[in-house]
Amino acid sequence: MCGIVGILGKHEVAPSLVEALRRLEYRGYDSAGIATVNAGHLDRRRAVGKLVNLSDLLVHDPLPGKSGIGHTRWATHGAPTEINAHPHKAGPVAVVHNGIIENFRELRAELVEAGHSFASETDTEVIAWLCQDYIAQGLNHVEAAKKTLSRLEGAFALVFLFDGEDDLMVAARKGSPLAVGHGDDEVYVGSDAIALAPFTDRITYLEEGDSAVLTRQTIEIRDERGALVNRPVKTVQIDAARVDKAGHKHFMAKEIAEQPTVLANALSAYLTDGGIHFTDEGLDFTKTERLVMVACGTAFYACLTAKYWFERIAGLPVEVDIASEFRYREPPIMPGTTALFVSQSGETADTLAALRFCKDRADRILSVVNVAESSIARESDVALPIHAGAEIGVASTKAFTCQLNVLLLLAIEAAHQRGRLSDADKARMLDDLRGLPGIFNIALDRNEIVRTVAVAISEARDILFLGRGLMYPLALEGALKLKEISYIHAEAYASGELKHGPIALIDNTVPVIVMAPSDSLFDKTVSNMQEVMARGGRVVLITDAAGAARAGHDVWKTIILPEVSEVLAPILYALPAQLLAYHTAIAKGTDVDQPRNLAKSVTVE
Ligand code: F6R
Repeated sequence: MCGIVGILGKHEVAPSLVEALRRLEYRGYDSAGIATVNAGHLDRRRAVGKLVNLSDLLVHDPLPGKSGIGHTRWATHGAPTEINAHPHKAGPVAVVHNGIIENFRELRAELVEAGHSFASETDTEVIAWLCQDYIAQGLNHVEAAKKTLSRLEGAFALVFLFDGEDDLMVAARKGSPLAVGHGDDEVYVGSDAIALAPFTDRITYLEEGDSAVLTRQTIEIRDERGALVNRPVKTVQIDAARVDKAGHKHFMAKEIAEQPTVLANALSAYLTDGGIHFTDEGLDFTKTERLVMVACGTAFYACLTAKYWFERIAGLPVEVDIASEFRYREPPIMPGTTALFVSQSGETADTLAALRFCKDRADRILSVVNVAESSIARESDVALPIHAGAEIGVASTKAFTCQLNVLLLLAIEAAHQRGRLSDADKARMLDDLRGLPGIFNIALDRNEIVRTVAVAISEARDILFLGRGLMYPLALEGALKLKEISYIHAEAYASGELKHGPIALIDNTVPVIVMAPSDSLFDKTVSNMQEVMARGGRVVLITDAAGAARAGHDVWKTIILPEVSEVLAPILYALPAQLLAYHTAIAKGTDVDQPRNLAKSVTVE
């Protein structure tokens, strides 16, 4: 969702604002803008489309000033036009905003009644006008901003900048993350530490409900009750905040290729000689009677996969739900329930709301996150990092496999504690896992064959994915990945479901991707494949060598992966699904890292 930044600097600030926005562009890329104060004068530049359009504009129409704010937008209220782009301005106030102001209609009506006319269709513009109104009523800039904040309902991260004040910003966080960066006689705010990495590694994360009054020399933070608070300054690892493509053409390609390394990192973070170490206090599953797992999108498919593991290996009943449904379904949470939330960003609004729903109901809140400082991590009893490193490509890749990695470790530990897995079996499974990064490396060599398949399917209008058992959630993930970045309509079905309806779609124009390692369910999947081929369907089979030998000759194309145990297969089979989506998008010429209409970190409902 939108990225925001603010800088009170020593030098011309426009280039730094644009650099920070470049690092935040993964959050939204419909339009971008900056505002600065120069010799007391507030001015702004905005441009529709990618950030490059704003930097081009600034070449022809520069914006001087040493203090400024910036924004990269993912449209919620109002189309992606220049008028709707941030910063929004009213009189002496400019504001950038991430989130949604839920009471903006009432506020807008009130402001229109008071005689103000709005330029944009956004909810954000009401914030600027409200603040302007309070200033016109005689409040100073800080008081006006605070009074404005007290009127806002919804989720937001905000930064205010004022005409006539080149050493003042007011920032606030409620429901959307915001970090303050400490420099030498400079101060920064940004949606995340990644945005601020070129300027500082000293970061203070604002807590829920905090507001901050910032000058170059002073940072005054108050909590939601208005009490002055001291939030810690943390030193973030610059490495973790580095954002480059490391020689790859796209972030997605880099992140796919990084998987052997990040999987190995996570394993070395969690595995000890004796077994698995999650926290110093340990994680007890002996009293857990059921798991409720909640997430969105790709993280939801990681949960669906883990359901098979927890139920089959640990004998633990699992309910999995999409966060946006779960939160409004208000399901009963029985005693003995551990609630487990999975989120790459740790900021997804629906997942966070579902977590809050479970807080006083579940025995324990666990989360599996990539961002250790995220809201979901901080509001959990135990947050387990997946150690994937920053994921910039909008389509999640390495975060998915790293989520699976940690979820499998949890399932193995739960199974062992509950007496369902002997010491020897646990040790064998962990040994298998230790071998996985190496197998991933070998599987990455299949890149070229996957590319040729991708070219062959790239003309299709519809594509089906099929999988059984542990491969069913993988089929869902494969279809999601493909539609996200290639814009080809793709659907996934459990193989056995095909004949209950979707088989009507099959003809020779619909490629069918079958994900089927040669496991205990393979023969059943082959039967479903035969049903497809008998109707002219063109099957792409993703399997191992034994599976390829057993599949027969009618298969259109086969991608052969190294053999792995049944339990590990979902992690490995994510790779060809990711590569297939990536190369199909390349063949179609779509925007791989910033696909249309999407954004990373969905902080609105
Ligand atoms: C798909 C994708 C999304 C996210 C979903 C949840 O490639 O990235 O479906 O998985 O928006 O995001 P997180 O994991 O940040 O909660």
